Amino acid sequence: MPTNAEKIKADLGRMEPMRTPAAKSARTDSKAPPNLADALGRPMHDLRISLLDRCNFRCPYCMPEAEFNEDYQFLTRASRLTHDEILRIAGIATRLGVSKLRLTGGEPLLDKHVSSLVAGLAELDGVEDLALTTNAMLLAPVAQELADAGLQRVTVSLDSLDERVFSQMSGGRGDLARVLEGISAAERAGLSPIKLNVVVQRGVNDHTVLDVLERFRGTPHIVRMIEFMDVGNRNGWRMEEVVPSRELVRMIAERWPLEPVGSNYAGEVARRYRYVDGAGEIGFISSVTEPFCGSCSRARLSADGVLYTCLFATQGTDLRGPLRAGADDAELESILKRVWLQRSDRYSEQRSPGEVAVQPLTKVEMYRIGG
Ligand code: GTP
Ligand code: 5AD
Ligand code: SF4
Ligand code: SF4
Repeated sequence: MPTNAEKIKADLGRMEPMRTPAAKSARTDSKAPPNLADALGRPMHDLRISLLDRCNFRCPYCMPEAEFNEDYQFLTRASRLTHDEILRIAGIATRLGVSKLRLTGGEPLLDKHVSSLVAGLAELDGVEDLALTTNAMLLAPVAQELADAGLQRVTVSLDSLDERVFSQMSGGRGDLARVLEGISAAERAGLSPIKLNVVVQRGVNDHTVLDVLERFRGTPHIVRMIEFMDVGNRNGWRMEEVVPSRELVRMIAERWPLEPVGSNYAGEVARRYRYVDGAGEIGFISSVTEPFCGSCSRARLSADGVLYTCLFATQGTDLRGPLRAGADDAELESILKRVWLQRSDRYSEQRSPGEVAVQPLTKVEMYRIGG
């Protein structure tokens, strides 16, 4: 009878590059997408879809309460894309080679009809990976419904297991017990591998990192440590608050020896490590100290239908206007193609360490295009 650790080690060993749902067959050759590469030769592989800009948390690194209060004007329902509009754009993106879709927000589960959108996206030809990023406050009651609709996996933002730190990092809005229930429900529904994103901020939650790892060691869940980024214009980012991944790797390996593991797929954002004792995998997302723009294949769609080609973009391309003006699929496809072919973004590589490279107050906010 294999031990839990042996089972995890065996799973890691046979991890596939991408999970393809058994019910969907791979794209046939006749439908093979065009080889669309941007100005730096990077393919368009992922589309990250923000469903709405609202969130039930106020994480200070993303939506600080002082700015996002009752006076803040979030997008109205009319200004947000409808599910049908999202499905059209996603369908065109998949015809252009996108095979990986992620629903984000703000908090995507604030959209009460998210499962029906998931069902539509899961039906699109060529979708190999369909995931959702959430803070998990509202996940428990809908996890099974999402899985039934065709969602393959969830990524949960979980910055600390220390009640006080967790409360501070969710802007006083999060309920840790509910988040943990959400993770358990996702596990029962088979929404795995579940990834747990920890944004690490020096002096805020870096002293609680080992507790998170301890809790999920020996489970199939993958904790990922994310360097605090200078996204948006409102989070008061300072280099001193970034804990470089190499520092974290050293600190964690002193407690539990680690060994690097190769990427699951080209362009994977996280650098993977496993516990030498077989207790599972962890990841490090080091966009500040070790940028990964060279393989960035992600397009992002905001809730109001603007297409962005970088998390740090200062402007995007409006798709909602043409959609609502009656553009047909060929016209929309040519806009997407043009945007991708011209793309040359590599913000994280261009910024000098410790500095913000573009003018303040011009970057798109993270809560508008998800993580
Ligand atoms: P998997 O598909 O599970 O491998 O997801 P992922 O590695 O794309 O990770 P996820 O979507 O959970 O993103 C995790 C975090 O990484 C985000 O919240 C961001 O903080 C950061 N991140 C993801 N994509 C990018 C990117 O293109 N550029 C930068 N700078 N950071 C990114
Ligand atoms: N730095 C790094 N990651 C961030 N996220 C939001 N803001 C930041 C930031 N400033 C990411 C986190 C969170 C997801 C929704 O967005 O990973 O889990
Ligand atoms: Fe909400 Fe996620 Fe931003 Fe936190 S990081 S405020 S949970 S969108
Ligand atoms: Fe991609 Fe922009 Fe992030 Fe670089 S900074 S990895 S180009 S999203």
